[in-house]
Amino acid sequence: MRVVESKADLQQQIRQWRHDGDHIAIVPTMGNLHAGHISLVKLAQDYAERVVVTLFVNPTQFAEGEDFEDYPRSRESDSMRLKKIGADLLFAPDVATVYPFGIENATTISVPGLTENFCGASRPGHFHGVTTVVARLFFLVRPDVAVFGQKDYQQQLIIRRMIDDLALPIRVITVPTVREDDGLAMSSRNAYLSDVERAVAPVLYSALREIGARLKNGRRDYEALEEKAWAALSDAGFKPEYVAIRRALDLSVPDRHCDELVVLAAAHLGRARLIDNVVVTV
Ligand code: PAF
Repeated sequence: MRVVESKADLQQQIRQWRHDGDHIAIVPTMGNLHAGHISLVKLAQDYAERVVVTLFVNPTQFAEGEDFEDYPRSRESDSMRLKKIGADLLFAPDVATVYPFGIENATTISVPGLTENFCGASRPGHFHGVTTVVARLFFLVRPDVAVFGQKDYQQQLIIRRMIDDLALPIRVITVPTVREDDGLAMSSRNAYLSDVERAVAPVLYSALREIGARLKNGRRDYEALEEKAWAALSDAGFKPEYVAIRRALDLSVPDRHCDELVVLAAAHLGRARLIDNVVVTV
């Protein structure tokens, strides 16, 4: 596996692969890779001859006071894990490579409509930073396929919308969330949980699954279901931010007849802000 930091080295390699007729998949990450990321890379290998993993802790998607400085960085071990599973290239640029005119002067991309609610409401500017950096990575790598995790459900919908709106020739694959044995969604931020909080953390997924089971049983009193889950999370020691049943396609408020739903939640547990979701076909 090649590790490259510069735009010139990246693009020389991409040109070579294109010349050889290879398709290219991109797996954008902020590093500190866990089994969830590895599942993205493995799936990417089914869709393209060449897989580029990007490692960039993107400053523009962290709001004031968030964990940009503390965000776990582990490039050596990330690189070893990727090499082991046969990724082709790790692109690990610095800030000046991604934002050559500086962050303040960067051309930005924003996707109105899908970005204001849920995680966008509590993390002002977050999705603006995500779409800006993902668009830049797309222009640098020019992939055929881009792979994202379902755990960041809102993020992958926003990226799909951006791709449609800008007519980018990129197919998005969304990969189911990888979980610990007790159901907790894998996340770099789980490292912030104390032992006691770690024992409580799976309650988030069980609350979402319970809503899912009730929806499948015919319940359509969405608000009551959301409130019950909110209470269960609060009782367990979480500070819920949102619990919402929405139309899976676009996160709009569903009517009683909607048959593709997503149940989304974000909740704080100690220092950690956890998010999770389940998609429910009723
Ligand atoms: O999901 C993430 O890790 C980040 O938001 C992404 C897509 C790599 C952009 O920085």
